[in-house]
Amino acid sequence: MSKRASIVNSWTEWDELEEVVIGRADSACFEPVEPGNRPELRDSFLAATIPFPTGRKRDAVVQWANEELAGFAALLEAQGVKVRRPHCHDFGQPIQTPHFSVPNQYCAVCPRDVMITFGNEILEATMSRRARFFEYLPYRKLVYEYWQSDPHMIWNAAPKPTMADAMYNVDFWKWPTAHRHARMQDFEFCITQDEVVFDAADCCRLGRDIIVQESMTTNRTGIHWLKRHLEPRGLRVHPVHFPLDFFPSHIDCTFVPLCPGMILTNPERPIRENDKRLFLGNGWEFVDAPQPALTNDEMPLFCQSSKWLSMNVFSISPTKIICEERESSLQKLLLSRGFEVYALPFRNVFEFGGSFHCASWDIRRRGECVDYFPNQPEYA
Ligand code: NVA
Repeated sequence: MSKRASIVNSWTEWDELEEVVIGRADSACFEPVEPGNRPELRDSFLAATIPFPTGRKRDAVVQWANEELAGFAALLEAQGVKVRRPHCHDFGQPIQTPHFSVPNQYCAVCPRDVMITFGNEILEATMSRRARFFEYLPYRKLVYEYWQSDPHMIWNAAPKPTMADAMYNVDFWKWPTAHRHARMQDFEFCITQDEVVFDAADCCRLGRDIIVQESMTTNRTGIHWLKRHLEPRGLRVHPVHFPLDFFPSHIDCTFVPLCPGMILTNPERPIRENDKRLFLGNGWEFVDAPQPALTNDEMPLFCQSSKWLSMNVFSISPTKIICEERESSLQKLLLSRGFEVYALPFRNVFEFGGSFHCASWDIRRRGECVDYFPNQPEYA
């Protein structure tokens, strides 16, 4: 076995960061309407009057986002972290496969949605939306580089779903809120259970235990695939649910671990009682995030995420956290809990799919696979 050091090694969301990939906004497009996604303008009057835009985003908007992404990268570099960036890809190109077509793709601002590191493994998610089918491509050169220079690195790509019409339950979008409420314990969303489907951002790494949110972007079959894939390596995969989130996608605005023993929780999206036991049975504390600085109506016009992007913080280490500059209530809370808080502007990135956690993909964090949950609940 070669003596070269490992490059790919990351087991948690909070261990001390050494190498990371930060997204870029070049050639980003508006997400198209498709069976797995119904983007809408934030303003309800405008949303009822004009359709969501299509095609490429304006150059100036791309530039503003790139400036904030560059600021994020610069702060990490100043902390001694090696920062890598995805390669360029033309998201304005249409996609045509044997099963579907879309007029354009999306962007490479959120590597977190697509790519995930489980220890020494890099896994490419299946993805759940058509416009994101090829979103692994901007990261492929980096993955090849890691694979060639790190002899311990394992590379896997989860099986691509067809994304054909039959993979989606389009009625989901027509359900009135009362019906959604009545069915909230069913956890049935816009994807069926017929194929393996997951976005990487529905997973959250807590050492030996991985939690995966069942959502509009990750189905039970996808979680089952992750279980069979990861458990032979000694990891444990736990599905988690947030029944009051009627449009769940990606866990990192809902349930965000900050350090061993502490989770930042969303007060409007409590975790299901049965799923709580893993945490409470091992002495973990839930700390509710304060109300965000913006209301949902004040979020940027084209942004498809909720006000809870405030919670999409990024840990440089178990004691250092990056937070959006205008989220002063959250900053105060984190300071009161003993964290060192780094505040950066990031609102121009929001319409590209996320905030700091979404816009990053950690490649190496110091530390090994720790068992933080020795008391495993017996699931009913
Ligand atoms: N779907 C989440 C955003 C995840 C980045 C939310 O809107 O809260």
